[in-house]
Amino acid sequence: MTAITRLNYFAFSASLRLWVKMLAMIYDKLAKFYDAAFAPFERRFLSKWRAETLALLPRNASILELGAGTGANFQFYPKCKRAVSSEISSKMIEIAKKKVNSNLLVQADAQSLPFGENEFDAAFATLVFCSIPDPELAFAELNRVIKPGGRLILLEHVRPPNPVGYFFDVFSVLTVRLIEDHFNRDTAKLAVKSGLKLIEVRPKARGAVNLIVCEVIKPANENWA
Ligand SMILES: C[S@@+](CC[C@H](N)C(=O)[O-])C[C@H]1O[C@@H](n2cnc3c(N)ncnc32)[C@H](O)[C@@H]1O
Repeated sequence: MTAITRLNYFAFSASLRLWVKMLAMIYDKLAKFYDAAFAPFERRFLSKWRAETLALLPRNASILELGAGTGANFQFYPKCKRAVSSEISSKMIEIAKKKVNSNLLVQADAQSLPFGENEFDAAFATLVFCSIPDPELAFAELNRVIKPGGRLILLEHVRPPNPVGYFFDVFSVLTVRLIEDHFNRDTAKLAVKSGLKLIEVRPKARGAVNLIVCEVIKPANENWA
């Protein structure tokens, strides 16, 4: 974590923690409807995109999932040395528990991960960075816990680069108010701004969804503690 990010975290940590608590309460309320609401999208395209995303993870490695939700990705995890699935909402975790294989479920905020530096070979998230209050803090945490040269793979809905983007700007005002979901984030740009190296962006749904591949490029001997 850089000095500025650390300062940023401590300055805002109390309000940020409260914000995350509220977000967890929102997802606690959504948890029981989540799988049914997403089922038509899973059948049409989402499951296929999940499989494509998780196929980019290294095999027999230590991997971390952020915002695992109800565990929709568990069936696509590669063979791992260690797999940790983190999530803030206890109700989401209750549902996810029924789908676990050998992965460990942990209640944790992506902006303040309870892991040591360089603990993971890779990390990933699907449909999570749209709701993280401070995505740059989460990227700083990922930079800390992923080994140098390790991958961060994201599948995120983002602001499309065409005129539909303006519609997303307006729609986002509503979704942020209702469920803290930002429909107009440029997640790849935020990752680069946070010091990650952008390897690839695969646009889907005319650029409204991106599969983003990043690499952690901190020097191997950098002290993140
Ligand atoms: C739209 S759901 C996606 C769930 C799952 N990844 C999927 O693809 O179905 C967003 C999830 O991110 C979680 N989340 C939001 N902010 C988070 C944070 N700061 N840290 C960890 N998880 C978070 C929410 O609780 C919710 O389960």
